[in-house]
Amino acid sequence: PTLHIITPTYSRPVQKAELTRLANTLLHVSNLHWIVVEDSQRRTTLVSHFLQEKGLNYTHLNILTPLTYKSRGDGRNPRVPRGTLQRNLALRWLRETFPLNYSQPGVVYFADDDNTYSLQLFEEMRSTKKVSVWPVAFVGGLRYESPKINALGKVYGWKTVFDPHRPFGIDMAGFAVNLGLILSKPQAYFKLRGVKGGYQESSLLKELVTLSELEPKASNCTKVLVWHTRTEKPVLVNEGKKGFTDSNVEI
Ligand code: UGA
Ligand code: MN
Repeated sequence: PTLHIITPTYSRPVQKAELTRLANTLLHVSNLHWIVVEDSQRRTTLVSHFLQEKGLNYTHLNILTPLTYKSRGDGRNPRVPRGTLQRNLALRWLRETFPLNYSQPGVVYFADDDNTYSLQLFEEMRSTKKVSVWPVAFVGGLRYESPKINALGKVYGWKTVFDPHRPFGIDMAGFAVNLGLILSKPQAYFKLRGVKGGYQESSLLKELVTLSELEPKASNCTKVLVWHTRTEKPVLVNEGKKGFTDSNVEI
């Protein structure tokens, strides 16, 4: 199957570094289609040139998250999770691009630009029939969060401290979905409004599967193959107000 990897991304000093690290990983993965969705009004030259140069099979999209959505935790602007509009646009693109009876097998995975992915993860997700799941490190205040697996190898809950009673107590990096399932449920999107923190993943997954249908990967969820790393903001105080370095040099 082709892996359709959906990555939301936004302009900031570390953007090119993040995309470089992710592209370097994806270059090792066969049969891959990278859907990069910029959170911007236009597709930027930085990302356009970057993608042209890498030699990966890609689709480049963009949709701006309105500024009112970006302020987090403000009472007047209920928090809209990051990357949501971008992931939904990619889901729409898949549905508009591939017919319902599309016969090429595919798997869809949401890969944020700042996480760390082992190559084995991509091979694990390739056999996804409906929705596959696995542990994710550095989320929810734990070394890792994981689906709970019973003796029959079925998911029956979530080994998390943060709200283990969520329908799907899993980070964005912890699951993949079969393309056919995405196409057969054209109404399934990430919910944009009124979604509490940690419920974004559930808002999509509950449209697609039930708990007992989940397929545990990574040796029955005993191995960590993805890390929710977050990049430190670089210190640029010496640039001053006018900027010290040549602003024509792309970083
Ligand atoms: C956690 C989850 O791992 C994310 O999947 C989830 O989207 C996010 O929380 C959330 O709901 O807010 P976190 O590390 O806090 O992740 O989020 P980021 O990595 O900052 O953002 C997730 C993705 O969205 C990244 O690929 C990032 O480049 C992109 N993003 C972020 C945008 O496209 N626009 C933004 O304004 C911010
Ligand atoms: Mn992140």
